[in-house]
Amino acid sequence: MDLKRNSKNFDVESWLHYADELGLGPFYLDRPVQIAAPNLPNGVSGASPSVSQRVGTPREPSVSASAPTDSSVRVGPSGGRPISAPAPVAPLRQSPPVAPQKSPAPQAFAPRVEAQSLFEERIENDSLERIRQDITPTCTRCKLHKARKQIVFGVGNPKAQLVFVGEGPGRDEDEQGEPFVGRAGKLLTDMIAAMGLRRQDVYICNVVKCRPPENRLPEKDEIATCSPFLARQLAVINPRVICCLGACSAQTLLNTTQGISRFRGEWFDYRGAKLIATYHPAYLLRNPAAKSEVWKDLQKVMAVLGLQLPRKSKP
Ligand code: URA
Repeated sequence: MDLKRNSKNFDVESWLHYADELGLGPFYLDRPVQIAAPNLPNGVSGASPSVSQRVGTPREPSVSASAPTDSSVRVGPSGGRPISAPAPVAPLRQSPPVAPQKSPAPQAFAPRVEAQSLFEERIENDSLERIRQDITPTCTRCKLHKARKQIVFGVGNPKAQLVFVGEGPGRDEDEQGEPFVGRAGKLLTDMIAAMGLRRQDVYICNVVKCRPPENRLPEKDEIATCSPFLARQLAVINPRVICCLGACSAQTLLNTTQGISRFRGEWFDYRGAKLIATYHPAYLLRNPAAKSEVWKDLQKVMAVLGLQLPRKSKP
Protein backbone atom coordinates (compact mmCIF):
# COMPACT_ATOMS: atom_id res chain seq x y z
CA MET A 1 0.00 0.00 0.00
CA ASP A 2 2.71 2.42 1.08
CA LEU A 3 4.82 1.27 -1.79
CA LYS A 4 2.02 2.02 -4.20
CA ARG A 5 1.56 5.48 -2.75
CA ASN A 6 5.27 6.10 -2.91
CA SER A 7 5.43 5.04 -6.50
CA LYS A 8 2.48 7.34 -7.29
CA ASN A 9 4.25 10.20 -5.53
CA PHE A 10 7.32 9.40 -7.50
CA ASP A 11 5.32 9.48 -10.75
CA VAL A 12 3.83 12.84 -9.87
CA GLU A 13 7.18 14.19 -8.81
CA SER A 14 8.91 13.12 -11.98
CA TRP A 15 6.05 14.50 -14.05
CA LEU A 16 6.40 17.86 -12.33
CA HIS A 17 10.13 17.82 -12.94
CA TYR A 18 9.39 17.03 -16.53
CA ALA A 19 7.06 19.99 -16.71
CA ASP A 20 9.76 22.16 -15.20
CA GLU A 21 12.25 20.96 -17.73
CA LEU A 22 9.87 21.87 -20.49
CA GLY A 23 9.64 25.35 -19.01
CA LEU A 24 6.02 24.91 -17.97
CA GLY A 25 6.58 25.00 -14.25
CA PRO A 26 6.42 25.80 -11.53
CA PHE A 27 2.75 26.37 -12.24
CA TYR A 28 1.82 24.10 -9.36
CA LEU A 29 3.31 26.41 -6.73
CA ASP A 30 1.16 29.05 -5.08
CA ARG A 31 -0.59 30.00 -8.26
CA PRO A 32 -3.20 32.67 -7.54
CA VAL A 33 -6.58 31.37 -8.55
CA GLN A 34 -8.53 33.85 -10.62
CA ILE A 35 -12.17 33.11 -10.17
CA ALA A 36 -13.89 36.18 -11.48
CA ALA A 37 -12.33 38.44 -14.00
CA PRO A 38 -12.82 42.15 -13.50
CA ASN A 39 -13.50 42.84 -17.11
CA LEU A 40 -15.88 45.74 -17.17
CA PRO A 41 -16.70 48.08 -19.97
CA ASN A 42 -15.94 51.62 -19.11
CA GLY A 43 -19.49 52.72 -19.23
CA VAL A 44 -20.36 56.29 -19.36
CA SER A 45 -16.97 57.67 -19.93
CA GLY A 46 -16.48 56.17 -23.33
CA ALA A 47 -16.34 52.39 -23.52
CA SER A 48 -19.84 52.50 -22.34
CA PRO A 49 -22.03 50.04 -20.53
CA SER A 50 -24.12 47.79 -22.62
CA VAL A 51 -27.62 48.66 -21.65
CA SER A 52 -29.18 45.60 -23.05
CA GLN A 53 -32.76 46.17 -22.15
CA ARG A 54 -35.29 48.89 -22.41
CA VAL A 55 -36.20 50.07 -18.98
CA GLY A 56 -39.84 49.78 -18.43
CA THR A 57 -40.37 46.79 -20.64
CA PRO A 58 -40.96 43.28 -19.36
CA ARG A 59 -37.32 42.60 -20.16
CA GLU A 60 -36.24 44.71 -17.27
CA PRO A 61 -35.44 42.15 -14.61
CA SER A 62 -33.48 39.92 -16.92
CA VAL A 63 -29.81 39.43 -16.33
CA SER A 64 -27.42 40.81 -18.86
CA ALA A 65 -23.68 40.69 -19.11
CA SER A 66 -21.14 40.10 -16.43
CA ALA A 67 -19.43 42.67 -14.30
CA PRO A 68 -16.34 42.65 -12.22
CA THR A 69 -16.30 42.16 -8.53
CA ASP A 70 -15.07 44.58 -5.95
CA SER A 71 -14.24 43.62 -2.45
CA SER A 72 -16.08 46.66 -1.18
CA VAL A 73 -19.28 46.07 -3.11
CA ARG A 74 -21.61 43.18 -2.63
CA VAL A 75 -20.31 40.32 -4.68
CA GLY A 76 -21.35 36.82 -5.43
CA PRO A 77 -19.51 33.56 -5.08
CA SER A 78 -16.51 34.88 -6.92
CA GLY A 79 -15.95 37.44 -4.24
CA GLY A 80 -16.49 35.00 -1.44
CA ARG A 81 -19.56 36.63 0.05
CA PRO A 82 -23.06 35.29 -0.31
CA ILE A 83 -25.27 37.07 -2.77
CA SER A 84 -27.91 37.53 -0.13
CA ALA A 85 -25.57 39.44 2.13
CA PRO A 86 -26.50 43.09 2.56
CA ALA A 87 -24.39 45.30 0.39
CA PRO A 88 -21.92 47.46 2.15
CA VAL A 89 -21.48 50.90 0.78
CA ALA A 90 -18.58 51.01 -1.62
CA PRO A 91 -16.53 54.16 -1.79
CA LEU A 92 -16.40 55.00 -5.46
CA ARG A 93 -12.95 56.45 -5.39
CA GLN A 94 -11.49 53.41 -3.73
CA SER A 95 -12.21 51.11 -6.64
CA PRO A 96 -8.94 50.02 -8.14
CA PRO A 97 -8.52 50.43 -11.87
CA VAL A 98 -9.66 47.45 -13.83
CA ALA A 99 -7.05 45.76 -15.96
CA PRO A 100 -8.17 44.73 -19.40
CA GLN A 101 -8.60 41.01 -19.62
CA LYS A 102 -8.05 38.77 -22.59
CA SER A 103 -10.27 35.86 -21.72
CA PRO A 104 -14.03 36.28 -21.27
CA ALA A 105 -15.00 37.07 -17.73
CA PRO A 106 -16.92 34.56 -15.70
CA GLN A 107 -20.22 35.96 -14.53
CA ALA A 108 -20.02 38.06 -11.43
CA PHE A 109 -22.97 39.02 -9.34
CA ALA A 110 -22.78 42.64 -8.45
CA PRO A 111 -21.89 45.84 -10.17
CA ARG A 112 -18.64 47.47 -9.49
CA VAL A 113 -18.58 51.16 -8.91
CA GLU A 114 -15.82 52.68 -10.94
CA ALA A 115 -14.30 56.08 -10.88
CA GLN A 116 -14.41 57.22 -14.46
CA SER A 117 -12.86 60.25 -15.98
CA LEU A 118 -16.00 62.09 -16.92
CA PHE A 119 -17.49 61.45 -13.52
CA GLU A 120 -14.32 62.69 -11.93
CA GLU A 121 -14.72 66.04 -13.57
CA ARG A 122 -15.59 68.66 -10.98
CA ILE A 123 -16.59 72.08 -12.07
CA GLU A 124 -16.04 74.82 -9.60
CA ASN A 125 -19.11 76.80 -8.63
CA ASP A 126 -21.24 74.57 -10.77
CA SER A 127 -24.99 75.02 -10.59
CA LEU A 128 -28.06 73.48 -12.13
CA GLU A 129 -28.56 76.65 -14.13
CA ARG A 130 -25.04 76.51 -15.48
CA ILE A 131 -25.48 72.86 -16.47
CA ARG A 132 -28.72 73.72 -18.21
CA GLN A 133 -26.97 76.53 -20.08
CA ASP A 134 -24.06 74.26 -20.98
CA ILE A 135 -26.42 71.73 -22.51
CA THR A 136 -28.15 74.52 -24.45
CA PRO A 137 -31.69 74.19 -25.78
CA THR A 138 -30.27 73.51 -29.23
CA CYS A 139 -27.85 70.78 -28.21
CA THR A 140 -26.73 68.58 -31.11
CA ARG A 141 -24.08 66.56 -29.28
CA CYS A 142 -25.78 63.28 -30.07
CA LYS A 143 -28.25 61.96 -32.60
CA LEU A 144 -31.18 62.21 -30.20
CA HIS A 145 -31.43 65.87 -31.08
CA LYS A 146 -32.88 64.98 -34.48
CA ALA A 147 -36.28 63.84 -33.23
CA ARG A 148 -36.63 65.55 -29.87
CA LYS A 149 -38.90 68.53 -29.33
CA GLN A 150 -37.07 69.89 -26.32
CA ILE A 151 -34.47 69.12 -23.70
CA VAL A 152 -35.92 67.58 -20.55
CA PHE A 153 -33.43 68.76 -17.97
CA GLY A 154 -34.84 67.79 -14.60
CA VAL A 155 -37.25 69.11 -12.04
CA GLY A 156 -37.65 69.48 -8.32
CA ASN A 157 -35.81 70.67 -5.27
CA PRO A 158 -32.26 71.68 -6.17
CA LYS A 159 -31.25 70.81 -2.61
CA ALA A 160 -33.15 67.55 -2.50
CA GLN A 161 -31.95 64.78 -0.25
CA LEU A 162 -33.43 62.27 -2.65
CA VAL A 163 -32.94 62.18 -6.41
CA PHE A 164 -34.78 59.82 -8.75
CA VAL A 165 -32.96 59.08 -11.98
CA GLY A 166 -34.84 57.63 -14.93
CA GLU A 167 -33.70 56.66 -18.34
CA GLY A 168 -34.80 59.27 -20.81
CA PRO A 169 -37.86 61.32 -21.65
CA GLY A 170 -40.84 59.71 -23.33
CA ARG A 171 -43.39 61.37 -25.58
CA ASP A 172 -45.24 63.24 -22.84
CA GLU A 173 -42.01 64.46 -21.32
CA ASP A 174 -40.75 65.59 -24.72
CA GLU A 175 -43.98 67.55 -25.16
CA GLN A 176 -43.99 69.11 -21.71
CA GLY A 177 -40.27 69.47 -21.02
CA GLU A 178 -40.58 67.80 -17.64
CA PRO A 179 -39.47 64.31 -16.63
CA PHE A 180 -41.94 61.66 -15.56
CA VAL A 181 -45.21 63.32 -16.44
CA GLY A 182 -46.75 60.47 -18.46
CA ARG A 183 -48.37 57.30 -17.12
CA ALA A 184 -45.13 56.05 -15.62
CA GLY A 185 -44.61 59.52 -14.20
CA LYS A 186 -47.98 59.44 -12.47
CA LEU A 187 -47.01 56.17 -10.87
CA LEU A 188 -43.72 57.70 -9.76
CA THR A 189 -45.64 60.62 -8.27
CA ASP A 190 -47.78 58.09 -6.35
CA MET A 191 -44.68 56.28 -5.18
CA ILE A 192 -43.23 59.56 -3.94
CA ALA A 193 -46.51 60.33 -2.17
CA ALA A 194 -46.49 56.89 -0.57
CA MET A 195 -43.17 57.89 0.98
CA GLY A 196 -44.83 60.97 2.44
CA LEU A 197 -43.15 63.32 -0.04
CA ARG A 198 -44.19 65.52 -2.90
CA ARG A 199 -42.56 65.81 -6.28
CA GLN A 200 -41.24 69.22 -5.32
CA ASP A 201 -39.45 67.73 -2.30
CA VAL A 202 -37.26 65.49 -4.45
CA TYR A 203 -35.36 65.96 -7.68
CA ILE A 204 -36.24 63.98 -10.79
CA CYS A 205 -34.09 63.66 -13.87
CA ASN A 206 -32.92 61.24 -16.52
CA VAL A 207 -29.72 59.83 -17.93
CA VAL A 208 -30.36 61.31 -21.36
CA LYS A 209 -32.13 64.62 -21.72
CA CYS A 210 -33.69 64.04 -25.11
CA ARG A 211 -36.36 61.56 -26.05
CA PRO A 212 -35.08 58.45 -27.82
CA PRO A 213 -37.25 57.95 -30.91
CA GLU A 214 -40.06 55.41 -30.50
CA ASN A 215 -39.12 55.26 -26.83
CA ARG A 216 -36.24 53.00 -27.66
CA LEU A 217 -33.36 52.47 -25.29
CA PRO A 218 -30.80 55.24 -25.21
CA GLU A 219 -27.76 53.94 -27.02
CA LYS A 220 -24.24 53.69 -25.66
CA ASP A 221 -22.96 56.76 -27.45
CA GLU A 222 -25.99 58.81 -26.38
CA ILE A 223 -25.50 57.78 -22.76
CA ALA A 224 -21.80 58.50 -22.97
CA THR A 225 -22.50 61.94 -24.40
CA CYS A 226 -25.25 62.99 -22.04
CA SER A 227 -24.48 61.30 -18.74
CA PRO A 228 -21.72 63.74 -17.73
CA PHE A 229 -24.52 66.29 -17.37
CA LEU A 230 -26.31 63.90 -15.04
CA ALA A 231 -23.08 63.49 -13.08
CA ARG A 232 -22.87 67.26 -12.75
CA GLN A 233 -26.50 67.50 -11.66
CA LEU A 234 -25.88 64.94 -8.96
CA ALA A 235 -22.69 66.68 -7.86
CA VAL A 236 -24.49 70.01 -7.54
CA ILE A 237 -27.57 68.64 -5.77
CA ASN A 238 -25.42 66.43 -3.55
CA PRO A 239 -28.31 64.25 -2.37
CA ARG A 240 -28.08 61.73 0.43
CA VAL A 241 -29.85 59.11 -1.65
CA ILE A 242 -30.01 58.44 -5.37
CA CYS A 243 -32.78 56.09 -6.45
CA CYS A 244 -32.17 54.69 -9.91
CA LEU A 245 -35.37 53.86 -11.72
CA GLY A 246 -34.62 50.93 -13.95
CA ALA A 247 -31.58 49.35 -15.47
CA CYS A 248 -30.39 52.21 -17.63
CA SER A 249 -29.68 54.70 -14.87
CA ALA A 250 -28.43 52.03 -12.47
CA GLN A 251 -26.07 50.57 -15.03
CA THR A 252 -24.89 54.01 -16.02
CA LEU A 253 -24.18 55.27 -12.54
CA LEU A 254 -22.76 51.99 -11.30
CA ASN A 255 -20.85 51.50 -14.51
CA THR A 256 -22.00 47.97 -15.01
CA THR A 257 -23.80 45.90 -17.60
CA GLN A 258 -25.38 43.59 -15.09
CA GLY A 259 -29.10 43.11 -15.08
CA ILE A 260 -30.88 45.16 -12.47
CA SER A 261 -32.46 42.16 -10.80
CA ARG A 262 -29.00 41.15 -9.65
CA PHE A 263 -28.52 44.22 -7.51
CA ARG A 264 -31.93 45.84 -7.11
CA GLY A 265 -32.62 46.87 -3.54
CA GLU A 266 -28.96 46.84 -2.53
CA TRP A 267 -27.05 49.88 -1.37
CA PHE A 268 -24.07 51.22 -3.23
CA ASP A 269 -21.98 54.31 -2.97
CA TYR A 270 -22.04 56.90 -5.66
CA ARG A 271 -19.57 59.65 -4.86
CA GLY A 272 -20.57 59.74 -1.24
CA ALA A 273 -24.30 59.41 -1.85
CA LYS A 274 -26.15 56.20 -1.16
CA LEU A 275 -27.45 54.67 -4.34
CA ILE A 276 -30.21 52.13 -4.66
CA ALA A 277 -31.74 50.76 -7.84
CA THR A 278 -35.32 49.73 -8.20
CA TYR A 279 -37.60 48.81 -11.06
CA HIS A 280 -38.78 51.50 -13.41
CA PRO A 281 -42.40 52.64 -12.93
CA ALA A 282 -43.10 51.79 -16.59
CA TYR A 283 -42.09 48.23 -15.83
CA LEU A 284 -44.48 48.26 -12.88
CA LEU A 285 -47.31 49.33 -15.17
CA ARG A 286 -46.77 46.09 -17.06
CA ASN A 287 -45.88 43.98 -14.06
CA PRO A 288 -47.87 45.25 -11.10
CA ALA A 289 -46.74 42.23 -9.05
CA ALA A 290 -43.29 43.81 -8.86
CA LYS A 291 -44.72 46.78 -6.97
CA SER A 292 -44.17 45.04 -3.65
CA GLU A 293 -40.46 44.72 -4.41
CA VAL A 294 -40.26 48.37 -5.30
CA TRP A 295 -42.12 49.34 -2.16
CA LYS A 296 -39.56 47.41 -0.12
CA ASP A 297 -36.80 49.39 -1.85
CA LEU A 298 -38.57 52.68 -1.20
CA GLN A 299 -38.96 51.77 2.45
CA LYS A 300 -35.21 51.28 2.61
CA VAL A 301 -34.81 54.77 1.20
CA MET A 302 -37.27 56.09 3.78
CA ALA A 303 -35.33 54.43 6.57
CA VAL A 304 -32.09 56.06 5.45
CA LEU A 305 -33.77 59.45 5.19
CA GLY A 306 -35.61 59.00 8.48
CA LEU A 307 -39.00 59.30 6.83
CA GLN A 308 -42.11 57.99 8.57
CA LEU A 309 -44.97 56.39 6.74
CA PRO A 310 -47.54 59.11 6.09
CA ARG A 311 -50.73 58.86 8.10
CA LYS A 312 -53.67 57.77 6.06
CA SER A 313 -56.16 60.57 5.70
CA LYS A 314 -59.60 59.79 7.11
CA PRO A 315 -62.25 58.96 4.51
N1 URA B 1 -39.31 57.28 -18.35
C1 URA B 1 -38.13 57.77 -17.96
O1 URA B 1 -37.19 57.03 -17.75
N2 URA B 1 -38.05 59.08 -17.80
C2 URA B 1 -39.04 59.91 -17.98
O2 URA B 1 -38.85 61.08 -17.80
C3 URA B 1 -40.27 59.38 -18.38
C4 URA B 1 -40.39 58.07 -18.55
